[in-house]
Amino acid sequence: MTSPSLSICCLGAGYVGGPTMAMIAAKCPDIRVTVTDPNEQRIAAWNSSELPVYEPGLQEVVESAREKNLFFSTDIKSAIRESDIIFVSVGTPTKTYGKGAGRAADLKYIESAARMIAEVAEGPKIIVEKSTLPVRTASALLTILRSNSTKASFQVLSNPEFLAEGTAIEDLENPDRVLIGGEQTPEGLEAIEKVVAIYARWVPREKILTTNLWSSELSKLVANAFLAQRISSINSISALCEATEADVDEVARAIGRDSRIGPKFLKASVGYGGSCFQKDILNLSYLCEHFGLPEVAEYWASVVKINDWQKTRFSGRIIRDLFNTVSGKHIGILGFAFKKDTNDTRETAAISVCRDLLAEGAKVYVYDPRVSEEQIREDVLGKAENPNLIVVKSALEACSGAHGVAVLTEWDEFKTLDFQKIYEGMLKPAFLFDGRNILPHQELKDLGFRVFAIGKSF
Ligand SMILES: NC(=O)c1ccc[n+]([C@@H]2O[C@H](COP(=O)([O-])OP(=O)(O)OC[C@H]3O[C@@H](n4cnc5c(N)ncnc54)[C@H](O)[C@@H]3O)[C@@H](O)[C@H]2O)c1
Repeated sequence: MTSPSLSICCLGAGYVGGPTMAMIAAKCPDIRVTVTDPNEQRIAAWNSSELPVYEPGLQEVVESAREKNLFFSTDIKSAIRESDIIFVSVGTPTKTYGKGAGRAADLKYIESAARMIAEVAEGPKIIVEKSTLPVRTASALLTILRSNSTKASFQVLSNPEFLAEGTAIEDLENPDRVLIGGEQTPEGLEAIEKVVAIYARWVPREKILTTNLWSSELSKLVANAFLAQRISSINSISALCEATEADVDEVARAIGRDSRIGPKFLKASVGYGGSCFQKDILNLSYLCEHFGLPEVAEYWASVVKINDWQKTRFSGRIIRDLFNTVSGKHIGILGFAFKKDTNDTRETAAISVCRDLLAEGAKVYVYDPRVSEEQIREDVLGKAENPNLIVVKSALEACSGAHGVAVLTEWDEFKTLDFQKIYEGMLKPAFLFDGRNILPHQELKDLGFRVFAIGKSF
């Protein structure tokens, strides 16, 4: 490219860093965008035709800009040196050790990114938090940056990402809002304007919200907490529906007509998954406790508790319906990703359901159209071996000879399976457990299946 108007880079080429930076590059051909990661395999994949992240439309966006103004590299230091704006999109998983283990966010990747930036940066740099972070992390970042660098000056902004996996490209192209928080000083406001100007190339100005740093950091955690709370609310009601002959889809339709509630995100299921909801609520709850608000902490922690319960309730129902034992029985699992149109399996309900069934001695046959066998094995078994976990290449294979079949991801292809053929190939009575409420239940019952669906009492 001819000399760029601006150079930006991103630390972290994951589910967020890759797609968000590809969209910026595609929309701003005069900006040079470098996405970096120490993981060589991941960078090689971003530079190939087999991208490490599956998202509808992503390949086209990447290919439209790659090697023109979009680059993927493991040379993090050079990218930092050459960039005016540095996005940080590294992982912030739940801490597994020490204080706050199981609840607090592990900030080791973000801190090491900050130290690397401080080590090599020269001149004025804008650092943008893209990762989801505990409120007030920017103040720690600024301290690390400013006390470890004499050659650079820094502004730290918060620009949390609201994309949903599975619809990332659509969400990035046409976001509900873009949020940018920064210090309310002349320098901070100037930095905010620079990042606003990037998004304003394709996002209407009225959708770009600017706030102080802390409101921006906190809003991301709160948005995820509200979304997850809505799912746990409808899932909790699904259990009551099963006990009372109410139908959870009918209840959702009825309450969703109330304009104060609205119709979206009221689909009952086996439980939410994904890398964010659980970790972000646990983190929010931990923060509340840290700031002396135990009642608020407990309120939000209960959202995760209901989700865990919903997953166990589902595997419990399979076991109960199969005459209280699944030992030696063949259970087909349709779908492993945490939702359709993604290959991401982090915190997917399928992990917990498969583990519960394996613990009861079942032979679990798993099929997912996008998730690799290695990934499924690692998620369910870790480093252990278990011959009862069998990963197969088609839905039909997973169901053939099964005592029961469970749908755990709402992939569209499951809606149009030949259930007559599946029924014929299963042991009788043939049980079907619809953990996503996507199948035509009456038709399946007419074929002879015994059907269980979330929040239904037939
Ligand atoms: N996945 C989502 O749907 C989603 C949505 C919104 C926000 N977020 C948030 O975005 C952040 C990133 O999430 P993700 O799903 O992309 O994670 P990810 O695990 O897919 O990617 C993170 C990447 O950062 C890399 N990395 C670690 N240290 C680095 C360093 N010093 N320099 C450069 N790269 C480094 C890792 O190798 C990894 O490839 C998290 O805070 C997450 O909560 C995720």
